[in-house]
Amino acid sequence: MTDQVDEIKSKVDIVEVASSYFPLKKSGRNFAALCPFHGEKTPSFMISPERQVFKCFGCGEGGDVFTFLEKVEGWDFRETLEELAKRAGVKLTSFAPSGASKLKEKLIAVNKLSSKFYSHLLSNHPLGGKARDYLLMRGIKKSTWEQFSLGYAPAGWENILTFLNKRGFSLADMATAGLIIARDVAKISAQQGYYDRFRNRIIFPLKDARGQILGFSARTIVDVKEEPKYINSPETPVFTKGAILFGLDIARESIKKKNEAILVEGEFDVLSAHQLGVTNIVASKGTALTERQVVILSRLCTNVSLCFDRDIAGDFASHRGIELLDLAGVNVKVVELGKYKDPDEFVRAQPSEFKKTLDEASDIYDYLIESAVRRNDPKTPQGKKKIGQETIGTIAKISDDLVRAHYIDKLAKLLDLEVSLVAAAVEKNKSSGNKAGDLTEELASVESIASSSKLEEYFLALFLHQEEVLAKIVARVNPSDFENDDASRFWKWLRDIIRSSKTKNIKKLLIKLPKNLDKFVDNLYLVNISPVFFEKEFWAEEITKTANRLKQFALRQQIMAISAELKLVQKKKDNQKIGNLTKKFDEVSKLLKETAT
Ligand code: CTP
Ligand code: MN
Repeated sequence: MTDQVDEIKSKVDIVEVASSYFPLKKSGRNFAALCPFHGEKTPSFMISPERQVFKCFGCGEGGDVFTFLEKVEGWDFRETLEELAKRAGVKLTSFAPSGASKLKEKLIAVNKLSSKFYSHLLSNHPLGGKARDYLLMRGIKKSTWEQFSLGYAPAGWENILTFLNKRGFSLADMATAGLIIARDVAKISAQQGYYDRFRNRIIFPLKDARGQILGFSARTIVDVKEEPKYINSPETPVFTKGAILFGLDIARESIKKKNEAILVEGEFDVLSAHQLGVTNIVASKGTALTERQVVILSRLCTNVSLCFDRDIAGDFASHRGIELLDLAGVNVKVVELGKYKDPDEFVRAQPSEFKKTLDEASDIYDYLIESAVRRNDPKTPQGKKKIGQETIGTIAKISDDLVRAHYIDKLAKLLDLEVSLVAAAVEKNKSSGNKAGDLTEELASVESIASSSKLEEYFLALFLHQEEVLAKIVARVNPSDFENDDASRFWKWLRDIIRSSKTKNIKKLLIKLPKNLDKFVDNLYLVNISPVFFEKEFWAEEITKTANRLKQFALRQQIMAISAELKLVQKKKDNQKIGNLTKKFDEVSKLLKETAT
């Protein structure tokens, strides 16, 4: 069993697995991301491709690819093992598929069959007449609704139930898939059992990129107040709202080819634009852009145009999506709908104008700034304050330094203020953003200055950063210079093995690392070292400095201990001890002075 676990581990890449959940950014030798396990505004989640481990320096979660999937998906070990085996192409010898993955397959199968049932009713059945009329009335052609596999759930309480029952599916399966709902027995004791969730509605299958149907969205064809316009599948083992983009399976190739995705809110927006020849279009289904959706898009293209009904400038939830896209290296633009309520209305009223508007999409940051300036008076102090409040937080999060500088400049001009003033406000927001947002981040940063263990960690991480060991440093630093026990043990082991081996190559030396130091070294590889120090000269300079600081720190600790002891023996008037300690104090002070120069 452990053999197979090791084989799987060697064949899957934690970087690849994690990047299918959220955007990763290269950061020196590691990858950084916003931690999925706690809320944070600046990335403190690190992955080391070399060690195949992750760690969040904010909340402390960490581990290997197995731990990662167990945490992020909520799977148990067995499920994780199966999934990873599948990915790695490893056939598990002693494992039959678990209940969980069998269930998922079954749910996808029941969704597929239901979709066929609904599609048949929409396209070919007399019962679907009204639904066909409704779609045609909204300008949707038969070929379009067939391409998107739309369907119709007829009125009545037990249509899908009876159909699936005949096909051998149990009530439990149908209910787990979210297709039927249990009657509230307490309320209507006469009528027990289940009824169809979707009734008298147009059905939109919600698929993943491969076209597997994970859930459904359903729109009423009779617009009445009592009925919600849209209802969706509930959360199921295969469906999570926010993890899908409607139309993705159809738009995928076009998005890749154009290197651009157009993101709208509604199903009908997708259908209308698609009929107009705008094929690289998907819908977020009315939610603010989620991390999962950002990942899906950022893997297909580097340009995303947001074409939302609502005003993005005033909607904080969308700003998060924008930051995520930026972090994933995607250029974000905004398409303004003008007088139209949504893209569907726009397309139907002025199709060629809509296409032109798409081409004229504005850069998201231009849009945010201009929109704020339009709504507030940039000449008054109050107006400046409002405009600043709306825009500075987002500008502060622009990842590219030059792009950020560009918008700082732009904002300064519009507000008629010194650039340095606006730049300072952005800087302030950048640092205060961390603190206000996340206590653990604040603690981590305070700690990084104050604690010796961070310095020790940084020193060792630097030491491992280059391929070859630096003899001068090995000679200079002693195991006793470390406060942290693991650090001290590791340094002792490393020094001994360096002295007894011919090779000076760190990776080769580490092959013999004792198991009980494995975790400690994993963490060292996760410490973020600036890419500047790939440059050997700079690195040598930095590690010499750091070794010095480490020495100084250790010597100061010693001085503090000696002083404390001196105070004690002075009280007791033990002259001999006072003499010895004073001598020791002078020696250590002298050493400290030497390191300071
Ligand atoms: N939506 C949803 N659940 C709801 C309401 C809306 O999932 N309870 C999603 C649907 O995907 C819908 C989109 O949000 O397409 C936009 O909703 P809304 O603005 O209400 O759509 P309209 O344009 O008013 O609806 P339609 O075009 O269908 O007439
Ligand atoms: Mn609409």
